[in-house]
Amino acid sequence: MSFPVRHFDAVIVGGGGAGLRAALQLSKAGLKTVVLSKVFPTRSHTVAAQGGVSASLGNVNPDHWTYHMYDTVKGSDWLGDQDSIEFMTRRAPEAVIELEHMGMPFDRVESGMIYQRPFGGHTRPEDPEDSHSKRIPVERACAAADRTGHAMLHTLYQQNVRANTQFFVEWSALDLIRDEDGAVVGVVAMEMETGEVYILHAKAVLFATGGAGRIYASSTNAYMNTGDGLGMAARAGIPLEDMEFWQFHPTGVAGAGVLITEGVRGEGGILLNSEGEAFMARYAPTVKDLASRDVVSRAMAIEIHEGRGCGPNKDHILLKIDHIGADKIINKLPGIREISINFAGVDPIKDPIPVVPTNHYMMGGIPTNYLGEVIVPKGDNLETVVPGFYAAGECACASVHGANRLGTNSLLDLVVFGKSAGDSMIEYIKSQKELRPLPKNAGAATKARLDRLENQTGGENVDEVRRDLQRTIQAHAGVFRTDAILKEGVAKVFEIAERVKRTEIKDKSRVWNTARLEALELDNLIEVAKATIVSAEARKESRGAHASDDHPERDDVNWMKHTLYHADTNTLSYKPVHTKPLTVEYIQPAKRVY
Ligand code: FUM
Repeated sequence: MSFPVRHFDAVIVGGGGAGLRAALQLSKAGLKTVVLSKVFPTRSHTVAAQGGVSASLGNVNPDHWTYHMYDTVKGSDWLGDQDSIEFMTRRAPEAVIELEHMGMPFDRVESGMIYQRPFGGHTRPEDPEDSHSKRIPVERACAAADRTGHAMLHTLYQQNVRANTQFFVEWSALDLIRDEDGAVVGVVAMEMETGEVYILHAKAVLFATGGAGRIYASSTNAYMNTGDGLGMAARAGIPLEDMEFWQFHPTGVAGAGVLITEGVRGEGGILLNSEGEAFMARYAPTVKDLASRDVVSRAMAIEIHEGRGCGPNKDHILLKIDHIGADKIINKLPGIREISINFAGVDPIKDPIPVVPTNHYMMGGIPTNYLGEVIVPKGDNLETVVPGFYAAGECACASVHGANRLGTNSLLDLVVFGKSAGDSMIEYIKSQKELRPLPKNAGAATKARLDRLENQTGGENVDEVRRDLQRTIQAHAGVFRTDAILKEGVAKVFEIAERVKRTEIKDKSRVWNTARLEALELDNLIEVAKATIVSAEARKESRGAHASDDHPERDDVNWMKHTLYHADTNTLSYKPVHTKPLTVEYIQPAKRVY
């Protein structure tokens, strides 16, 4: 065996909301559970989620989970699996109340109930007696000021400490281990402090590794969001689903990329072009600034492209919020005020914030069902469960977000699918009397990667290759796409992939060697980038976040299907969207207008 081995019931890779929620289930069930995290868990990227977690509590206006389900299906542009969407939206109220009971410090409305604000794409029928009446925005985002993810993460971490979950902090998982039958039996991981590499042998492994926004040059994502789970899965022969769908959040701080929550528009903020026009009324006459993110981002890009951008370079849009009053900004949006002052040099109490659409979220990921089990095509069965392997949160594709995610459905996804994956793992682990043996070559692939880095001379600089990759993806897989731009993007990404094979690090030391870690992370970024550009180039329609100038319409006949990218063969296959919800009627595809 190449590396020392440690044994667990469950290994959870990722200390964000999904990982912590799953770990809590497992630890409470008495299973030996370890959470691996590249950073201290309360610094995971969930901390950056601002505006709220969605649930149809109806604390401000009447609401129902079926309205939430409808909005999510529509938001997904009918690419979301309706069984998964029913599962998530139906469980949302229970999941949020559970967090409240764990001690999550939600804001309150006058009556003492959890505070809820409107968010893009979340609606209710104007007449509660008539479900077919005009849809208007509804207060569905349960918020802790504009630091909801922060509050959630601390709550879940504290609960895990109480449940005796073990944490390996500042550890990075490097590769997944599958046995001869394809079952997952552990991971290879590095302790960053010492540079030591271990095999963590387990009955079940959950990936909750978050997003991969760092394939883009401008992203709201943390630097650590390098798609590690996706890279490991791809190298282990697991296809990646729907990777052409990347969300651009309408309001990243211009030039800095830092997120300004959609909660700003939920509280009454409006987007203005250089003529001072609240232009969203032209693009989404009913819900205006609270249309879904793909719609708002495209509208902003068009305004800028047509010369109505703001500032000397006409390259951004203004987000005006001063009219809601200083009190509300200070109490409900303190975080964005701080961000605006620090990153844009403006105080939103007085001045508008310069914003641009910025890469924010990956709708695709590791294919799972709503139980958190990883599913792959095998023979005629397009959804065979991979024994011992689970995924939840942004790295997973359940698929609830389809072609476009609604804001606040991400925090919800973390807790609902984190818990369901945890429950599935408990059942599986209890069915396994013994640990399945490790394969003879366990760790060999990782050793080969590490040896190459150790011995590479005259190679490529990691930073330069990563920057070229980010610039390429930014230019070739942006808000608007064309056949020619995508085709060129495929060629460029594969040229960069060759360079990734020759990266060199000068610093070979073991202790806290971030150069080595960044080189290993680049191996993951490139897998995500390949999957993204190849999947996008193949999809000849416009749906959700994938907007093609050459194919401007949605094509349900030919393209209402999920993409699977197979890294080993660099090929694509497809599988049908789940159109059958669990208990309710199928929501028929319709034109998506807001
Ligand atoms: O705008 C926001 O607060 C982000 C929320 C989300 O991505 O769900």
